[in-house]
Amino acid sequence: MAFWLNACVNLRLSEQELKEQGISYLFLDPSNFDAEMEKRNLGYKHHDIVELNSNTPNLDILLSKFRREHFHRDDESRYVLDGDGFFDIRSLDDRWIRISVTDGDYISIPAFRYHKFELTQIERIKAVRFFKDDHSWEPIYRGEQNGK
Ligand SMILES: [Fe+2]
Repeated sequence: MAFWLNACVNLRLSEQELKEQGISYLFLDPSNFDAEMEKRNLGYKHHDIVELNSNTPNLDILLSKFRREHFHRDDESRYVLDGDGFFDIRSLDDRWIRISVTDGDYISIPAFRYHKFELTQIERIKAVRFFKDDHSWEPIYRGEQNGK
C-alpha cells in the first residue's frame, strides 16, 4: 500500500501516480520468482540478499542509519522474500509518500531521491537487492555533503 503521509486523510497513491513520481512498486508472484531472471528483466547488473532480524549484529545501529533521510547514486531496488518494512520516500515536490512492503513486493526508488526505511514491529525482513552500479551505494544524508 502506498499513501501520502501528513495529508488530512490517508490518500492512497495508484500505481500510475507512483510511476509519475518515478517509483516502481509491483507484486511479483513469489512462487515464480527467479532473482537471476528478474535481474535481467529489470535491467540490473548485480543482486544479493539482505536480511535484518533480531539476530543481525548491530541491528539498532543499522536501523538508525536507515531511518535517516538519505539518497543513493543508484536506484534502491528491493524484492521482499519474507517479512515487512516500510519506506518513506520524498515526492517530486518534497512531500512524504509511505510505501509498505511485504512478501512478493518489488520496489524501486530512483537514484538521488531522498528516502528512509523502517522495519515493522515484527522486526524481520529478507529481501533481494538489485544494483545497476555497485559503486554508487553509499548513502548521502540530507544536510551533509551534497545533500540539500
Ligand atoms: Fe537507502
